[in-house]
Amino acid sequence: MKSMKWKIFATLVVGLGLAGCDGTPLVQSGDADETVVERKLDPTQVTRGKAVYEKVCLECHGIGGKGQPGDWRIRDADGHFPPPPLDDSAHAWHHPTAVLLDMIREGSPQGQGKMPAWKGKLSEQEMLDGVAYIKSLWSDEVYALWWKLEQKSLEP
Ligand code: HEC
Repeated sequence: MKSMKWKIFATLVVGLGLAGCDGTPLVQSGDADETVVERKLDPTQVTRGKAVYEKVCLECHGIGGKGQPGDWRIRDADGHFPPPPLDDSAHAWHHPTAVLLDMIREGSPQGQGKMPAWKGKLSEQEMLDGVAYIKSLWSDEVYALWWKLEQKSLEP
C-alpha cells in the first residue's frame, strides 16, 4: 500500500520540527538519507495488543493512547509525572522496542511516576502485542523516525 511507505527527507524532518529528547534534531540537515521504511506490523498482533491495552492500559493512557487532559510533562502535586500519551504526540516513539518493553515490565523508576510494573501480571507475548498496538498509533513519518532509532539501537 502506497501510504505505508515513507521516504525520510532531512528537509521534511526539519520542517516538522521533530526533535530528540535533548532537543537536537533527530536527523541532521545534510543527512540526505532516503531510507524507505515499510511498516511491518502484524494486524493480528495489533488486534491482540489493542485488547490488552484496553483492558489494563487505557484507564491511564487514554483512548487510542491519547493520554489524559493536561500537560503530561508537568509533575502533579505529589511530584509524579502523569501518564503520557503513547501515540506520536509525546515521547514513546523516541524509544526502541527493548526500552519500551523494559518500561512496561518494570514500571516507573522510583519516585518518577506511577506506572505499575507488568512483569508477572502480563506475559511477554502480551507486552509485545501491546507495544505493536502502540506502534500502530504512530503516523507513517513518526514510525519511520522511530525505525531509524530502532536500527541504531540494534547496532553492535
Ligand atoms: C496507573 C496508571 C498506568 C497504567 C495502568 C499504565 N501506565 Fe504506562 N505510564 C504511567 C505513567 C504515570 C507513566 C510515566 C512514567 C514516569 O514518568 O515514570 C507511564 C509511562 C509509560 C510508558 C513510557 C512512555 C514514554 O513516553 O517514555 C509506556 C511505554 C507505557 N507507560 C506503557 C503502558 C502500557 C503498555 C500499559 C498497559 C500494559 C500501561 N502503560 C499502563 C501510568 C500507567
